[in-house]
Amino acid sequence: MQQSMKLVAGNWKMNGVAAALAEVEALRAALAEAPASCRVALCPPATLIERMARAASGSPIEIGGQDCRAETHGAFTGDLSASMLKDAGAGLVILGHSERRQGYGESDALVAAKAAAALDAGLAPIVCVGETLEQREAGRAVEIVRSQVMASLPLALTGRDFAVAYEPVWAIGTGLTPTLEQIEEVHRAVRSAMIERLGLGISATPILYGGSVKPDNARDILAVPEVGGALVGGASLKAADFLGIIRGA
Ligand code: 13P
Repeated sequence: MQQSMKLVAGNWKMNGVAAALAEVEALRAALAEAPASCRVALCPPATLIERMARAASGSPIEIGGQDCRAETHGAFTGDLSASMLKDAGAGLVILGHSERRQGYGESDALVAAKAAAALDAGLAPIVCVGETLEQREAGRAVEIVRSQVMASLPLALTGRDFAVAYEPVWAIGTGLTPTLEQIEEVHRAVRSAMIERLGLGISATPILYGGSVKPDNARDILAVPEVGGALVGGASLKAADFLGIIRGA
């Protein structure tokens, strides 16, 4: 993962069948006409990774998975290993998304094990952290995010390509976003926890913001100090919306 350019990544979650590949074609065409000044990635459902990688081949669009298992193989019905994602054409993988931390009880330790497995398979992890509304209202946002960073980043990440995504749980899919000052405060705390955990070598590793990023707020959010990109859900599904975000980077 290049360290200086911003990274704008789309998380399609459980959305998209073959017809949605038309959005990738549209994105590809637009980026060929006017190249992005940031890195661009799409993380589709696993069923689309291979086809999307083919559709994006030769373009700057990078492809990622949305989760992987920490084990390399075995009797884990329905799960995917990091090397399977890599084999299908992924170069990145989102890990520890709040929808998995909350919906599947994923712990920081499990997220760290998955991140180590992703590195072993040659994938760059995007490790997600973020507080709930209750935690923010209790004044605990920085403390919670800091402890997630410390416990979810394996030491093996030192010197490797990866990103951290700060996604306040209450901002995901709600249209609500923290203020720019709140985003800056948490991103600075994430950076200092990353340095404490992994050393100064990670000073340029991107910290993405995620949660209701749209074309009309992306430029302001992406200009906040320590915001190294965006992790975009709903607004990454349509090429026109996603492009509106990419052009703000
Ligand atoms: P929305 O952009 O739809 O709020 O989702 C954010 C997210 O969860 C990205 O991983």
